Amino acid sequence: MKERVRHADLQNRVVSRQIAASWIEDGMTLGLSGFTRAGDAKAVPLALVERAKKENLKVNVYTGASLGSDVDRLMAEAGIVNKRLPFQADSVMRKKINEGDMYFVDQHLSHTAEYLRNDALEAVDVAIVEAVSITEDGFIIPTTSVGNSSIFVEKAKTVIVELNEAQPLALEGMHDIYELGKQGERNPIPLQHVDDRIGTQGIPVDLDKVKGIVLTNQQDSPSTIVPPDEETATMADHLIQFLRKENKEGRLPKNLAPLQSGIGSVANAVLHGLLESEFTDLEVYSEVLQDAVFDLLDAGKVRFASGCSITLSETKLEGLLSDLDRYKDRLVLRPQEFSNHPEIIRRLGLIAINTALEFDIYGNINSTHVSGTKMMNGIGGSGDFARNSKLSIFVTKSIAKNGNISSVVPFVSHVDHTEHDVDVIVTEQGYADLRGLAPIERPPVIIKNCAHPMYREQLLNYFEEACKRGGQTPHVLEKAFSWHTNFANNGTMLEKTPQYSG
Ligand code: COA
Repeated sequence: MKERVRHADLQNRVVSRQIAASWIEDGMTLGLSGFTRAGDAKAVPLALVERAKKENLKVNVYTGASLGSDVDRLMAEAGIVNKRLPFQADSVMRKKINEGDMYFVDQHLSHTAEYLRNDALEAVDVAIVEAVSITEDGFIIPTTSVGNSSIFVEKAKTVIVELNEAQPLALEGMHDIYELGKQGERNPIPLQHVDDRIGTQGIPVDLDKVKGIVLTNQQDSPSTIVPPDEETATMADHLIQFLRKENKEGRLPKNLAPLQSGIGSVANAVLHGLLESEFTDLEVYSEVLQDAVFDLLDAGKVRFASGCSITLSETKLEGLLSDLDRYKDRLVLRPQEFSNHPEIIRRLGLIAINTALEFDIYGNINSTHVSGTKMMNGIGGSGDFARNSKLSIFVTKSIAKNGNISSVVPFVSHVDHTEHDVDVIVTEQGYADLRGLAPIERPPVIIKNCAHPMYREQLLNYFEEACKRGGQTPHVLEKAFSWHTNFANNGTMLEKTPQYSG
């Protein structure tokens, strides 16, 4: 313990998870460490769930992103969450949100810290953050994610540290914590290269606020992504074809530009496709570092990766944690407002690859709402990157649910990324480069290159009918959502008899 809690004043603050959970009062707001199942506070939230079995308790829960160890699921099942932000990805919590049993604020991941700094959100009462250690000079060293932990620690009235002995001490030195300062008073962020380190290795904390340290010994939950399949491999091929063209025409060098890749199986598989490509000496400036990034690091394709969390499958995680030194000088983890900061994203000129649920014939993207109303996970960092990157790419399969859903629709049923923030769309059918195209030039390209053949004629018929009505962005407004209502009523977006005769 002394090796991990090195500040002498803190060594007598070790308490049980139950005692730490007893400090949490009904109505409080908690700031939990954790970002896409990595580095999450595991013990105290679960002790709180146990407590809630015997008493009525509701809290607001802020995090970096989704939590592992079933914490989101168990908190949702226990009914203890009043309001959750900024991201979740659990099926039980999703159901509770969509049934109106709890509030969910779906937020750009770089925004939460700014809101907290500006006191525009309910203040954090208790920050509960996972750590590998606390240094001699009182810095908290996070584990496999940084997320929003530094702003939670700064703003919370009380701090509880979960010291996780399952997380190797070798993680020390892998973080870069930089405090942006108040808006209106801050300096430009002095980061010019993906591998620059500009902050401290740990999170500074006012030691008087540290009320307790809870010892834990539990590994992160492995990621739930599925390995690449034939369709995602084809999508990767299309993306590489596009990148090759950009290189040939002099817009991208051989090592491309720093890459960001979103969460989920599709984005991971597409990034994985770069393994077989000629591109090398790559850099990653992303949010979550998934399996594909480590495959690329292992293959020597990626020279450096910066992120705010490491979320890996079970075997990959074991491999990483048992041999961290191999990655130490090629990896850095930063707070999410920093990994996702528009200033940096624009300065470095990233290639951002994120996943859509659906997109429309003009290039608007829906990443979050199934059929326009039901929350899937949240926008995450996709908006931070899409708006500010040099190249904003969205990927998705052209159909879902055995072809009963077309991912290309006349009008998206919810807009996360407007047509102004989307440069290239990739499906297993091909890619559509939308740069420089006026709205009316886009549908023929998108339909021909990206839509599934079974939906192409239906889409072309819609566009033809819309064009007869004219306008900068033609639509048949009364039919714009008919594909979604058809799916809701008949279980398919396919029209049995062509409705749009043109
Ligand atoms: N309508 C309804 N459901 C759809 C759909 C559509 N148009 N397109 C896909 N789906 C369903 C799939 O069938 C699948 O359902 P299942 O879980 O029941 O099998 C589910 O959505 C996930 O799709 P999948 O193709 O497996 O993709 P994924 O794992 O790559 O996840 C997102 C895709 C969009 C859900 C995910 O990337 C996400 O939450 N993105 C938003 C946040 C984000 O981009 N963050 C990145 C910032 S770094």
